[in-house]
Amino acid sequence: MKNTLRICVVGLGRAGNFHLTSIERIDGLELHSVVDTDAALAQREGEARGCKWSTELTELLADDDLNAVIVASPTDAHFQYICDALNAGKHVFTEKPVGHTVEEINTCFELAAKYGKALHLGFQRRFDRNFMALKRRLPELGDARIVKASSRDNPRPSYDYLKISGNIFHDMLIHDFDMLMFLFGAKKPETVFAAGHAYDETIASFNDFDTVMVSIKYSDGMVCSIDTSRIAAYGYDQRIEVFGKKGMATVENERNNSVNLYTENGASHEPFNYSFPQRYKDAYYEEMIQFKDGIRNGILTNVAQAESVLSHQLADAALESIQTGTVVQFKEFVKSNSRL
Ligand SMILES: NC(=O)c1ccc[n+]([C@@H]2O[C@H](COP(=O)([O-])OP(=O)(O)OC[C@H]3O[C@@H](n4cnc5c(N)ncnc54)[C@H](O)[C@@H]3O)[C@@H](O)[C@H]2O)c1
Repeated sequence: MKNTLRICVVGLGRAGNFHLTSIERIDGLELHSVVDTDAALAQREGEARGCKWSTELTELLADDDLNAVIVASPTDAHFQYICDALNAGKHVFTEKPVGHTVEEINTCFELAAKYGKALHLGFQRRFDRNFMALKRRLPELGDARIVKASSRDNPRPSYDYLKISGNIFHDMLIHDFDMLMFLFGAKKPETVFAAGHAYDETIASFNDFDTVMVSIKYSDGMVCSIDTSRIAAYGYDQRIEVFGKKGMATVENERNNSVNLYTENGASHEPFNYSFPQRYKDAYYEEMIQFKDGIRNGILTNVAQAESVLSHQLADAALESIQTGTVVQFKEFVKSNSRL
């Protein structure tokens, strides 16, 4: 079909799978190939889906039939794949985070601009109907004064994943920092403070945390707290509350359905969604539609470069705070760590 976008998916784990599902569902997208360092998995997926497969992206990039690459590999390989794909003239959709440093993030955006290719980022919460509605209604609240967010994963990701995920700030809270960008733009905070603990001994052995609270203060007065946990016994849990001069808005957690049951034993309701593939099923689909339409309409990114950099710096500042036990003065921190 004319205008069909032929895509290679790199990394066939949890994220790769929801992107494969979206490609199958969306007219105008076609799976060109799959790549995974696990050869048996790449072969199985490639054969089952009737596309090329490989353990390496490089050879596939030479194919003129390939238009775009979805990077869903583990985080430590994102930067190289993004650069290789852009340098080969392909559009890129990458899972978060883009890179390990501001320098890497800037390089990716600069390459995309140089070649006029798309660089879309996998911050799917921006495409969730609840958070989109919240953003639309924010003006009714007046200036936001308090923001409270809870972000609790379920089930705990595998230790193999966590070991190379970066840390809870760059891997998980980065979604919440991006939500601040989505709702309030790239406004820079005054101070960042983080406290947390690793209840899980294996996570502690990675020098990481499984339970964290971050407090952010802005010069216009807005204060923000985000709590996060790698596991929540009752299911996946994401909520946000914005309090302003003229009112308050809340986005509640989602359940499997909205039935409430009242009997002589009391009241109960359906469980919350089990995990992110259920909670963000529609958002993963929508972000891929936006990628396709963005390429057609010349919208080369879904997250501004400045927002992407600021989210990363927030994660760095929160990490610095938890490691030093101090309140981080954000501007000075960024100035003295400009290459982070
Ligand atoms: N946006 C979201 O909601 C969301 C959710 C989960 C994961 N992610 C992101 O997606 C990425 C992948 O996470 P996941 O949960 O799918 O991991 P995963 O462990 O489930 O799967 C990773 C897959 O990549 C393969 N792999 C390992 N090294 C590779 C390499 N160098 N090149 C190609 N393939 C390689 C593995 O064999 C495995 O199949 C991470 O960067 C993570 O941050 C995003």
